[in-house]
Amino acid sequence: MTVVKSTLPEEALGVTGTALQDTLVDLLGLSLIGKQAHWNIVGPRFRSIHLQLDEVVATARGHSDTVAERASALGVPPDGRPETIAATFALPGTKDGWLRDTEVVELMVSALGTAVDRLRERIDATEKADPVTQDLLITVTADLEKQRWMFQAENQPRDDASS
Ligand SMILES: [Fe+2]
Repeated sequence: MTVVKSTLPEEALGVTGTALQDTLVDLLGLSLIGKQAHWNIVGPRFRSIHLQLDEVVATARGHSDTVAERASALGVPPDGRPETIAATFALPGTKDGWLRDTEVVELMVSALGTAVDRLRERIDATEKADPVTQDLLITVTADLEKQRWMFQAENQPRDDASS
């Protein structure tokens, strides 16, 4: 059923729709990982990381809405169902139970870094297919890279800053 007719030709729409759907799953999954870590973190750096994780969640959720609505605007129905996330989520995840603060920082550096790598591939893929979507993906990437930077900065041993 085609309800919303796309403004893009078929091939460009295929590339763009895939990029948006895959980004949607990455962002929804990231928001779930962020909350899981927010609830389960333990350790001396609890407070700062607990709060920072909610920044990641807010960023991921906000962008997931933008990405999903871009798909809708192009005539591609976005799929954010839990079963779809469970079946297709491909970023590094986390174990269940309590998480040490150091583990959480490593997890977030890794998950955000992988998300950024995947986004950069989609930025390339959408350059010709749909520069409007590409522009949106660039914004998402910048925000996730910023979050990744802040977690990586958290992870430096005390001695490293002076050398
Ligand atoms: Fe909370």
